[in-house]
Amino acid sequence: MKKHHLLASLLLISSLTLPARSQNYTPSEENIKSRQEFRDARFGIFLHWGLYSMLATGEWTMTNNDLNYKEYAKLAGGFYPSKFNAAEWVSAIKASGAKYICFTTRHHEGFSMFHSQYSEYNIVDATPFKRDVLKELAEECQKQGIRLHLYYSHLDWYREDYPWGRTGRGTGRSNEKGNWNNYYQFMNNQLTELLTNYGPIGAIWFDGWWDQDQNPNFDWQLPEQYALIHKLQPACLIGNNHHSEPFEGEDIQIFERDLPGENKAGLSGQDISKLPLETCETMNGMWGYKITDQNYKSTKTLIHYLVKAAGKDANLLMNIGPQPDGCLPEVAIKRLKEIGLWLKKNGETIYGTRGGCIAPHDWGVTTQKDNRLFVHILNLQDKALFLPLEESKVKRAFTFEDKKTLNFKRVPGGITLLLDEIPTETDKIIELELERSGK
Ligand code: GLC
Repeated sequence: MKKHHLLASLLLISSLTLPARSQNYTPSEENIKSRQEFRDARFGIFLHWGLYSMLATGEWTMTNNDLNYKEYAKLAGGFYPSKFNAAEWVSAIKASGAKYICFTTRHHEGFSMFHSQYSEYNIVDATPFKRDVLKELAEECQKQGIRLHLYYSHLDWYREDYPWGRTGRGTGRSNEKGNWNNYYQFMNNQLTELLTNYGPIGAIWFDGWWDQDQNPNFDWQLPEQYALIHKLQPACLIGNNHHSEPFEGEDIQIFERDLPGENKAGLSGQDISKLPLETCETMNGMWGYKITDQNYKSTKTLIHYLVKAAGKDANLLMNIGPQPDGCLPEVAIKRLKEIGLWLKKNGETIYGTRGGCIAPHDWGVTTQKDNRLFVHILNLQDKALFLPLEESKVKRAFTFEDKKTLNFKRVPGGITLLLDEIPTETDKIIELELERSGK
């Protein structure tokens, strides 16, 4: 047995150190197909859940309050999310029209929300709950037909072997240098577990790269790690929330709290690549559960965010922070339901579309499927709307909701749509039938 292990580790190490670095990454056929499906999905739900939910002050509380790692770890002994029910979570999320779920398997606090043999600090071995919530969630996702993505933190405020970065300096770990080789192997072992024990995984969503940005010589050895993931599951997409343009080996580009091309939160501003895009945003103001934050965005605001993301050819990954008792917050469930009702009617103008041929404007955005152009009017105090449509000729314009023909005038540089009244809907959708190019 021991020998076997040694051989397996040697094989793993050699397979990790050999590939990728000097080669150019060529995504596999499965991966390309998966990218396409990812783009078509347009809407996912992010779940930030960990021990931090018990302190109810967000997922950064450990470092923000300089909580000692040994004291913090004691939370595990009292973690018993008695109302956790994967079927209820997945049903509530499916009702929103979301096509995938991204779950935090291990956040910066270092606690594994799945059964890991590489760290006892995990939900099965360290809590009285003893249930592998990830397993239950993965099985339910399979059953209800929704994809599962896994968030995985590169940085760790708990482990002694993680070399200190910019955050987590006050958690009492004594070994500033850490032991990188050990930590790197640990992460790869856990990633192997995640990609072996939980069925098909749609994406691995990394976060925390930025923790070492003041340490220019730090090498995260990403190419080898990415190669391992693609070897284990070729269709699994890799995204990394490093706030830069994508690195070699990544399959999607992530934006945090801003639509591609915008930078209100100060974490974006990077160029937009040709990879599928995803932007993540909170429903209230925090990723992890925060008891005092009831400041939920309105359903209208959330729908606008989704539509604007689609207009920029990006997916929206909208976050919920589950409670320590295992329930999703009530307001979040209500929002999910309402977004779902909207998508049931209007999903055709979102799913499977690409950013439309008219760039986003203050009044709204466009999405497109072949020669069908969907004009999403989100904010217009007028009955006339100019659309710069020089390239393609408009054959017909009608309201998406009730297919009522709309008049429009050809004007220099485009057309002016003539609406019956000033739009008051959350999203007034006008469909334009364009002449197919080349015909
Ligand atoms: C940030 C935060 C993290 C959160 C993530 C989600 O990187 O560090 O807490 O998980 O954003 O986008």
